[in-house]
Amino acid sequence: MTEGNVGLAVIGAGVMGTGIAALASGSGVPVVLVDVDPAALERAERAIGGHIRMGQLYGKLSRTVEAGPVRYTGVLADAADADVVIEAIVEVTEAKAKVYAELSALVRQDAVLVTNTSGIPVDELAGHVRHPERVVGAHFMNPAYMIRTVEVIRGPRTAQDALDRLVALLTVLGDEAVVVNDGPGFVINRILQRMINESARIVSEGLASPGDVDRLFKGCLGHTTGPLATADLIGLDNVVDSLRALYERTGDPGYAPCDLLTAKVAEGDFGRKTGRGFFTY
Ligand code: NAI
Repeated sequence: MTEGNVGLAVIGAGVMGTGIAALASGSGVPVVLVDVDPAALERAERAIGGHIRMGQLYGKLSRTVEAGPVRYTGVLADAADADVVIEAIVEVTEAKAKVYAELSALVRQDAVLVTNTSGIPVDELAGHVRHPERVVGAHFMNPAYMIRTVEVIRGPRTAQDALDRLVALLTVLGDEAVVVNDGPGFVINRILQRMINESARIVSEGLASPGDVDRLFKGCLGHTTGPLATADLIGLDNVVDSLRALYERTGDPGYAPCDLLTAKVAEGDFGRKTGRGFFTY
């Protein structure tokens, strides 16, 4: 796999899939972007140019690289020729399991299947494919074209070659990989999701407003974004799904999504993507 001829497919054209496709295209890598929802593909097509310009403006993407072509499609089989497939669909185990089973029957035997899951163990997803040694985790942050460190997860069955090929792709994209071992939530979300849940509990108990919780983390601890603004950026629907995935796998009540979070999701207040969450946008 060399620069320029990486065959990359991204499955899921939501917040993350669109950001990852922008990162790849902005790095000159051609991408096939797949989603079951035509509206998501249309939104992605409208957004990607702006994402690339933003990445360039902040010096995160080169202005001299010609953008790689992006093909928008609703057909999973269009990912069949990819060297690397990055899955970024909803954080619902059954939905991911179905996509992995379908992908496994389509792609080449040596293709690397990469999951952008927030915290479902990589090995669990690898259980749904013919070649579990080809499955690796790459937990990109949002926006993927701006935050250039990636938590890479080596499952217990991941082959060194599959890991190396993912890291080679990340190098082409200009990202730094930090490789960790597998487990619910990996490193970042095992800590972050609990922090968000506890912050929401603090707000619902009336201890502090969302603004004050975040001000403390920024002013006292030097965080650039507070936990509740981070939750709004991630999407509260995704936060609740991630907490549930962690709670189911650990039984730790610290991960049981608190009532305030589930109520906001039930009301359709998902954060930035809907204009309202803990804060208004
Ligand atoms: P999203 O809800 O914005 O997008 C998910 C997309 O997947 C939707 O467009 C949906 O139509 C599509 N989809 C659902 N089933 C599909 C299928 N079978 N085939 C193709 N497309 C399908 O979700 P988001 O936030 O982009 O998250 C995607 C993944 O990335 C999740 O696993 C999430 O946990 C993870 N993640 C999210 C981060 C965030 O900040 N939002 C950060 C890092 C990881």
